Amino acid sequence: MTGRGKRAIEDHFDVSHELEVQLEAAGKFDLLEEVRDILPEHVTAVAIRQPRPLGLGHAVYCAKKIIGDEPFAVLLADDMIYGGRNPVLLQMVDMFDKVQSSIVAVEEVDPSETHKYGIVSMTPVDDRSGKMEGIVEKPLPEHAPSNLGVVGRYILTSEIFDHLENIPKGSGGEIQLTDGIAELMKNQDVYSYAYHGKRYDCGSKLGYLAATVEYGINHKDLGDDFKAYLKEFVESLDQ
Ligand code: G1P
Repeated sequence: MTGRGKRAIEDHFDVSHELEVQLEAAGKFDLLEEVRDILPEHVTAVAIRQPRPLGLGHAVYCAKKIIGDEPFAVLLADDMIYGGRNPVLLQMVDMFDKVQSSIVAVEEVDPSETHKYGIVSMTPVDDRSGKMEGIVEKPLPEHAPSNLGVVGRYILTSEIFDHLENIPKGSGGEIQLTDGIAELMKNQDVYSYAYHGKRYDCGSKLGYLAATVEYGINHKDLGDDFKAYLKEFVESLDQ
């Protein structure tokens, strides 16, 4: 999903012809491979523009025509989740293979912060998953059914589109994905999943900086040098 002023994202996944020619001429073949691997050959990138900021539910609804009847994943880029070799979406796809129902990623949030998240109530199925009984967008702490907050990873069945088409504006005057899921739950099972991984709220500047450090440390080429630099830098702060 994209919109006005975000062309750089589409360009990132497009072939960068001039750059490839330059890298080839300069003999920088490892960089060339990296640039070509941005979009693996079996993947096609399609961008849809959300013409007006009417809410997350509306943004998802805009993708209806290209998704059709398939189950699909929604990833909110603000929530960066480090899963190492076990990415959160892969964990959720594995779970979908078993339950064949929609799944919402959740984590326990500070009870005083429920007004920042979709909040779910559920009956536990096992350590990590639960059958959802309710979901409400950004309730005040005194109205929250639990402190289980929705994190920006969802696998949804295509029936969600029928509900997104019909729901009224919700919290913040926006068409909320949460409200669409609440409707979907009246006809289908929806599961919560407490993922393995560490979330960074990249919607906040501090969260973005923290994510940059952790991803830097784990980078396959730069990681060791970056870690050594950081250690030295942190020690110098104590002096
Ligand atoms: C959105 C969703 C909310 C969810 C959150 C996770 O809210 O509407 O239910 O908990 O993402 O990051 P936003 O943060 O876009 O306001």
